[in-house]
Amino acid sequence: MDDRTASFRYVTAMTFNATIITLYPEAFPGALDVSILARARKQGLWGLETVDLRDFGIGKHRKVDDTPAGGGAGLVLRADVAAAAIDAVAAEGRPLLYPSPRGKPFSQVRAHELAAGPGMVVLCGRFEGLDERVIEARGLEEVSLGDFVLAGGEVAAQALIEATVRLLPGVAGNAASLDEESFETGLLEYPLYTAPRVWEGRDIPLELLSGNHGRIKEWRLNRSKALTRARRPDLWAAYPSGTDLRASETDDECN
Ligand SMILES: C[S@@+](CC[C@H](N)C(=O)[O-])C[C@H]1O[C@@H](n2cnc3c(N)ncnc32)[C@H](O)[C@@H]1O
Repeated sequence: MDDRTASFRYVTAMTFNATIITLYPEAFPGALDVSILARARKQGLWGLETVDLRDFGIGKHRKVDDTPAGGGAGLVLRADVAAAAIDAVAAEGRPLLYPSPRGKPFSQVRAHELAAGPGMVVLCGRFEGLDERVIEARGLEEVSLGDFVLAGGEVAAQALIEATVRLLPGVAGNAASLDEESFETGLLEYPLYTAPRVWEGRDIPLELLSGNHGRIKEWRLNRSKALTRARRPDLWAAYPSGTDLRASETDDECN
């Protein structure tokens, strides 16, 4: 039994299962195999399998791509090959995601939605991308990591899975630490400090050393607001009490 067979058998009994369709199965588990995600997978809290897209390629050379209709640079993943791989996966109600720079930006909200479900199937793009017909015919959800272009969908797939799996019950060592993170309340997280008390002449803000929980909470909230206002006007505009904060409270140390 090789490693991939082993991981497939392991996956079928899991609660949250991720299946990755990729030309580079060797890229997995990659960063998903360290720290809390590795421990959680060993504990059976989630499972991972890869499906090699090459296995569904055409002919002796297992061809998966062809030139773009209408001409132009590069190659495009064939619809028939991608569809054969998708159809070979037992999706069992899991959403089918296609990482793509054209997709809707992936978000903490979407990660929470996915974490509440049975898992995800992710088709990793390569070359210029994927034939549009398979995106339409199989209802692929296009999700973007941001306004930049990666060489392939593998790193993006790992990011989607990591952001989602760390939200599963029992995965994070301290579940309370998830509550105050960036985006959870519509704001970016406040600045963090730890030992030493003074480092290169820089002190920890006095409020954090006051021992007064009310004062600390208020300082953190104000710093969160300040950072969000300065760096993410889109989030700030959507934050319910965004306009309540006086400009003077948000102007320092936030760039
Ligand atoms: C070189 S890119 C293709 C870019 C495409 N020609 C375009 O201009 O939108 C190859 C693959 O990388 C992945 N990829 C690249 N950038 C991404 C991003 N920002 N978010 C998610 N996936 C991305 C996608 O799966 C994509 O099919």
